[in-house]
Amino acid sequence: MPIPTWQYHEPDHPGADFDALAEIYDRNMQKYRDIQGEIGEILAFLELQPGQTVLEIGTGTGEFALAAAPKCARVYAVDLSEGMLKYAKKKAQARGVANVEFLKGGFLSYGHQGHPLDAVVSQIALHHLPDFWKQIALLRIADMLHSGGKLCLRDVVYSFNPRLHRDFFEEFIAKATERAGPSFAGSICDHVRKEYSTMDWIMRGLIERAGFEINREEKRSGFFGLYLCTKI
Ligand SMILES: C[S@@+](CC[C@H](N)C(=O)[O-])C[C@H]1O[C@@H](n2cnc3c(N)ncnc32)[C@H](O)[C@@H]1O
Repeated sequence: MPIPTWQYHEPDHPGADFDALAEIYDRNMQKYRDIQGEIGEILAFLELQPGQTVLEIGTGTGEFALAAAPKCARVYAVDLSEGMLKYAKKKAQARGVANVEFLKGGFLSYGHQGHPLDAVVSQIALHHLPDFWKQIALLRIADMLHSGGKLCLRDVVYSFNPRLHRDFFEEFIAKATERAGPSFAGSICDHVRKEYSTMDWIMRGLIERAGFEINREEKRSGFFGLYLCTKI
């Protein structure tokens, strides 16, 4: 189906040029995030069974998809960026993982064919959409899951007092500079200035209005949110 002219154009997102960045992104994330810890946290909630299917949207360099693959029947790993998908596919080959299907698509354009999914995961990607389109994305995700299916959403979500935003960002960015250097801190400045991260109470409302129960919500450093949810 052609994309209507009024629909948010996903490839125009204000984030980085991920096509050009895949390898550097992968290296930086391994350095600055506890990737294995994050994956473990999600897998513990999902309790995947051998026959189950998982969709990851905004898979990036595929680290979660590759870790989930041995625990289930199939992982659909979707991303808008051909560069990220190509890099993730190479990792799958190198690790001998054969049950991940890498597909080009976005929150608003990927249409799942076949049986309803058991789980959908998305990490640090939904903020590429403005809030109205986040709601549409979450409704589309709910439609792809069977009832009782699970959603794990991790993103940059603000949970500090907005009146104190200046002090919050100054301190957060100073700490990032100290810990990871000016280039990484610069990417946080870009994120705050240009991207569509929203506040925790809005994110909670969007998730619940899409038909999910939030089983666990974690707010981290006022800057990150993790939502472990079940479709009602
Ligand atoms: C910051 S990276 C996160 C990658 C990975 N999930 C992680 O946790 O490291 C964001 C990813 O989302 C993808 N992306 C951006 N907008 C998207 C959209 N509308 N639909 C699907 N993927 C999108 C980008 O191409 C990029 O690979």
